[in-house]
Amino acid sequence: MPSSSVEPNHFRKACAQFATGITIPTVLGSDGKPHGFTANSFTSVSLSPPMVLICVDNKANVIEHFRAASSFAINILEAQQQALSNRFAGRGHDRFEGVDWKPGELGVPLIEGAIAHLECKVNQVLEVGDHSVFFGEVLFAQFSDGAPLLYFQGRYESLTS
Ligand SMILES: Cc1cc2nc3c(=O)[nH]c(=O)nc-3n(C[C@H](O)[C@H](O)[C@H](O)COP(=O)(O)O)c2cc1C
Repeated sequence: MPSSSVEPNHFRKACAQFATGITIPTVLGSDGKPHGFTANSFTSVSLSPPMVLICVDNKANVIEHFRAASSFAINILEAQQQALSNRFAGRGHDRFEGVDWKPGELGVPLIEGAIAHLECKVNQVLEVGDHSVFFGEVLFAQFSDGAPLLYFQGRYESLTS
């Protein structure tokens, strides 16, 4: 197989031209505690059955909790939740400290103020390059009105209209 000559930083910048929302995928760990991280790799995959995916860096500490879990939640962030996005991308602190959340139907952590919550049963996990792709079948979904937090060219953005 030919190896790519695309330099990593160049690849990152090209991909950063794709504007995304921001999610916090969460699981309830076998330690009984909520765990989660900031992710913009979320994608809807299939309508029937309803399926989504997230890509998790194999080097992330949080991945062990996702590998051990049979279900996860996707929390889609609202425009004012930028601090929460930074908090769940940072290290050296308890990410859930002071964060309002409640267990969903599957017991997965649902973060207050998110504009959508998707509760997923893990369908399959594929190792692709340096990430693991977690596919989830959506068993419960809720959403509310509200503007999304956006991410473009490495910066947070919001809808202007
Ligand atoms: C805007 C944004 C999007 C991110 N998207 C992802 C992602 O899709 N997958 C991923 O593995 N890490 C992503 N990260 C990085 C993780 O949030 C962070 O590196 C991860 O939580 C590592 O922490 P841990 O090793 O303590 O688990 C993103 C970070 C930011 C700020």
